[in-house]
Amino acid sequence: MAAEIIDGRAVAARVRAEVADAVAAWRERNGRVPGLATILVGDDPASAVYVAGKRKACAEVGLADMHRHLPADVEQAEVAELIAQLAEDPDVSGILLQLPVPRQLDSEALIDLIPPFKDVDGLTPLSVGLLTLGRPGLRPCTPNGVIALLHNHAIKIVGADVTVVGRSNLVGKPLATLLGNSGATVTSCHLDTRDLVASCRGADILVVAAGAPKLITPAHVKPGAVVIDVGITRTPEGLVGDVDFDAVAPIAGLITPVPGGVGPMTIAMLLRNTMTAAELLADSAPPPAR
Ligand SMILES: NC(=O)c1ccc[n+]([C@@H]2O[C@H](COP(=O)([O-])OP(=O)(O)OC[C@H]3O[C@@H](n4cnc5c(N)ncnc54)[C@H](O)[C@@H]3O)[C@@H](O)[C@H]2O)c1
Repeated sequence: MAAEIIDGRAVAARVRAEVADAVAAWRERNGRVPGLATILVGDDPASAVYVAGKRKACAEVGLADMHRHLPADVEQAEVAELIAQLAEDPDVSGILLQLPVPRQLDSEALIDLIPPFKDVDGLTPLSVGLLTLGRPGLRPCTPNGVIALLHNHAIKIVGADVTVVGRSNLVGKPLATLLGNSGATVTSCHLDTRDLVASCRGADILVVAAGAPKLITPAHVKPGAVVIDVGITRTPEGLVGDVDFDAVAPIAGLITPVPGGVGPMTIAMLLRNTMTAAELLADSAPPPAR
């Protein structure tokens, strides 16, 4: 029997509707709405498209769009100054520095300046530390989106054997940590993994974030397994995932398509993180002076 296909667009639409409700309730209570400050440096076409998508989604759920655009030749100190201003601004709940930034900039030093309670990308060392410790904090959007898809389909993570292919700081590593914190037994694979097939084919849940089109074939997949494809590669034929979908779908239990699987979840989780950031900030604020 062919796998059930996980509809990421439908799940993402539900998350967005929940965020829109939360924003409306926040406005009702506080007389204003949380804001997301996206920072785009330069005019890289792909980055511009990603940021435009985030801003559009932000406006659609009623969050304030506090976008900033800086020229490609901007100096480190100027970007640092902007982040410091946004960090202090009570109307800004979330700060997102779109990566990659131009060569003259040190992106790690800039990310370090984002306060952890405004770190809606979950990339600062403090956010990573909180994630590792399993303490409340903001989690990276794509890994969080994968977890939300699993929850949405009532897939049991506790005790599951999970293999994550890819161990980038952005996706693979935080995802392996989130899954481990949720009770899974996690195998983390990467380019130096000696026998990828052996490491994948025992998995109840296989998550692939390698950026290697059609890397995963039926040989990697246990019959009935849940297969989550994070990979996105642009080809002349369109977007291609890391899983050979047509070959794997007949044996998997559940599978995400590309596009329309994990992709739509990333922006939905960014919106949710912005709301969570507003709540964290409010919880940490000193009580109003009497
Ligand atoms: N759906 C989304 O919203 C979303 C978000 C972020 C990234 N992505 C996609 O996910 C993929 C991974 O992104 P990233 O930023 O983590 O990439 P990356 O290049 O930073 O990391 C890739 C990881 O995969 C491993 N890897 C690569 N080829 C491999 C192979 N043949 N066998 C085993 N391991 C291999 C590498 O060792 C590395 O750890 C890309 O296709 C990217 O476009 C999608």
